Amino acid sequence: MITVTICVGSSCSVRGSDEFADALEREIEKRGLGDRIRLVGAFCMEQCSKGISVKVDDQQYREVHFLEAASFFEREILPRLNREESS
Ligand code: FES
Repeated sequence: MITVTICVGSSCSVRGSDEFADALEREIEKRGLGDRIRLVGAFCMEQCSKGISVKVDDQQYREVHFLEAASFFEREILPRLNREESS
């Protein structure tokens, strides 16, 4: 199970973290991966000037753009799922 944590604090919300979360959720549903990926919201991750702040398990990402949810999913989440599957 992979946990994706998305900051929904005010600075990240202004930058579109809700839209980013919705788009990631659609990617997860589209691929039927709801039992392998958990999406959670978090309040400020103390990187406000560098939001949107996102964590995939323990790895932190900054300056994620809300329009790049699909590419973020393919680049940062899918490979992790594949590694998890093969271990
Ligand atoms: S509001 Fe997202 S890091 Fe502070």
